[in-house]
Amino acid sequence: MLVNMKELLKDAQDGNYAVGSFSVANMEMVLGVLKAARELSAPVILQIAEVRLKQSPLEIIGPLMVAAAENADTPVAVHFDHGKTEEKIKQALDLGFTSVMFDGSHLPLDENIATTKRIIDIAGKYNASVEAEIGCVGGSEDGSEDIAINCTKPQDAVRFEAETGVDALAIAIGNAHGNYKDVPKLRFDILQKVNEITNTPLVLHGGTGISPDDFVKCSKNGIKKINIATATFDCVEQSVRQAYEQDAINGYYDLHLAEIDGAYQNAKKHIMIFGSNNKA
Ligand code: 13P
Repeated sequence: MLVNMKELLKDAQDGNYAVGSFSVANMEMVLGVLKAARELSAPVILQIAEVRLKQSPLEIIGPLMVAAAENADTPVAVHFDHGKTEEKIKQALDLGFTSVMFDGSHLPLDENIATTKRIIDIAGKYNASVEAEIGCVGGSEDGSEDIAINCTKPQDAVRFEAETGVDALAIAIGNAHGNYKDVPKLRFDILQKVNEITNTPLVLHGGTGISPDDFVKCSKNGIKKINIATATFDCVEQSVRQAYEQDAINGYYDLHLAEIDGAYQNAKKHIMIFGSNNKA
């Protein structure tokens, strides 16, 4: 069933686990993620980022994501990731997304707060949740920019929470989008401090390449939503490649199955690590 993201994250706070937010680019990825969610009785979030709309147009993939969530057996939120423009955020809301992110992390804090508040007003009319980001997560969602990591200042999180009342807050603790060049060293001291002095569910971007132990540590210290994009795309691609190598592709529908399987295996692995299995 299609649900508001806020509800999923509240349950995750109460149950001390994190919900996987899986980026999707086509129907096969949606089917793969939802197959894992059904099998493991897990709540999940389906998401697509604004920078990916050049490959997967929002007016086509958006209704597909919403319909898939509505028809799912488990609770599914549909989220617009890294919203940059009010126009696209509104389009996602009009299509029935139950959550949107406004990414103002590159803006001065005052401006990030002011714009986030405006987006919260808009999303409120749709009863949708809003995620924001403070500090700078490294890289960019589609790898086109090499943004330097700038860890979140805990006091900024307190101010941001108090002034916006945002539903979910992405913070920067040494995480980065894409495949990590070196083993990521997450700043758990910053995470623990932010978690201690705020109540908002926290979001970890750049999930690809973070170790299972670090994921678990994050999920026990306030991170309630974990974004996985590159790993989804890589797993789908590897699954297809492997199927070709094993001579298992005889026509389009074998390709279709290999794609679904890649997205399914990836979602399954992460759901188990995040502890969201049997939480639907
Ligand atoms: P990865 O591509 O590193 O998994 O990051 C995903 C993400 O944070 C999307 O917003």
